[in-house]
Amino acid sequence: MSLQDIISKSITENAKPIGFDVFMNFALYHSKFGYYRSNKSIIGKQGDFITAPEISDLFGYSIARQCKQILNEGDILEFGAGSGVLSSQILFELARLDCVPNKYFIIELSARLKIIQRDTIKKVLPELIDRVEWLSELPKDFTGVVIANEVLDAMPAKRVRFSNGKFNELGVGFNKDGFYWRGFDVPFANDSVRLPHDVEEGYTTEVNLHAMAWIKSLCDSIKEGTILLIDYGMDRSEYFHSQRNDGTLKCFYKHKAGNDPFCNIGIQDITTSVNFSDIADSAIKSGFEVSGYCTQAMFLISLGIEKYLLNEKDTNIRIDLAQQIKQLILPNEMGEIFKVMALSKKQAVKLDGFKEQDLTKKL
Ligand SMILES: C[S@@+](CC[C@H](N)C(=O)[O-])C[C@H]1O[C@@H](n2cnc3c(N)ncnc32)[C@H](O)[C@@H]1O
Repeated sequence: MSLQDIISKSITENAKPIGFDVFMNFALYHSKFGYYRSNKSIIGKQGDFITAPEISDLFGYSIARQCKQILNEGDILEFGAGSGVLSSQILFELARLDCVPNKYFIIELSARLKIIQRDTIKKVLPELIDRVEWLSELPKDFTGVVIANEVLDAMPAKRVRFSNGKFNELGVGFNKDGFYWRGFDVPFANDSVRLPHDVEEGYTTEVNLHAMAWIKSLCDSIKEGTILLIDYGMDRSEYFHSQRNDGTLKCFYKHKAGNDPFCNIGIQDITTSVNFSDIADSAIKSGFEVSGYCTQAMFLISLGIEKYLLNEKDTNIRIDLAQQIKQLILPNEMGEIFKVMALSKKQAVKLDGFKEQDLTKKL
């Protein structure tokens, strides 16, 4: 049975559409055929998309500087660690700053990526590999820093469409021509989500209940610490801008962006942008405090990313680093599309990463 067959069977057996979140969960995380469970290279030049730590070591070094300020005796927990590059960068810089945590935990859904992560970290830091531990569930009473780079956008989201004055869930149906968008008859309602009332007929957007539930479960497992969320996304007013009338759903296949989740099923990435206002609301409801929110550019600048460039003596390396920094901070590259949000529990420290900009009031 192919992944298409498995998904279509789940629709036809019950004779009703499935939510888009259910479809996305199959496409990305099906235990055998899901995109993030496959054996193909997905991240980096050979894959479908490139992430910030794959662009430059300076990304992870800057995050490490933020970790140092808040780590104390705590540990680090990274979600969805990709190729292990970010973990290596953070550990490398923390070693240089003489602040290596006792444990660097990773929660990773893909068995293949776990092997790649171990290899990457072992290659860069063989002396620290014993401190890295892969967990299959959230630790209890965790103290320290949690990091999730481009994880929320990969969580299965629902789609909703405005019709006759209310939002209805837009699910996925199946017929002889394949998968298609099919509305549910009942209005979409969820207390955790604030949807706009003044949008045009047919306005379509996404709602990520999965991400909100994830925040709550993290709050239950963290005793004391800070979560750093780095992802492409925006506050609510930008998310529901009238021009964004077909939502934020995007697919990536061999570095080409598309908007058809019903093609290349299981071999292309599917993402939706993060509504950081929803994340802040559920974080506060769960018991976190929002301790900072800004663009990726300003976060990296606040942590002194340019100092690495100024301290470099070799001209050729300096040219390379300058190019990498541009990709990370220029507004039309990753600088403004990506945001950083910090959520803290029992931590009073004012975070260095938000020294130059804090947009929390915009949320
Ligand atoms: C776009 S990749 C980002 C990889 C990496 N963080 C980087 O920056 O290169 C998304 C990752 O999030 C992981 N992911 C999604 N939901 C997750 C969850 N609930 N727990 C742990 N990892 C998750 C996926 O398995 C995948 O490895």
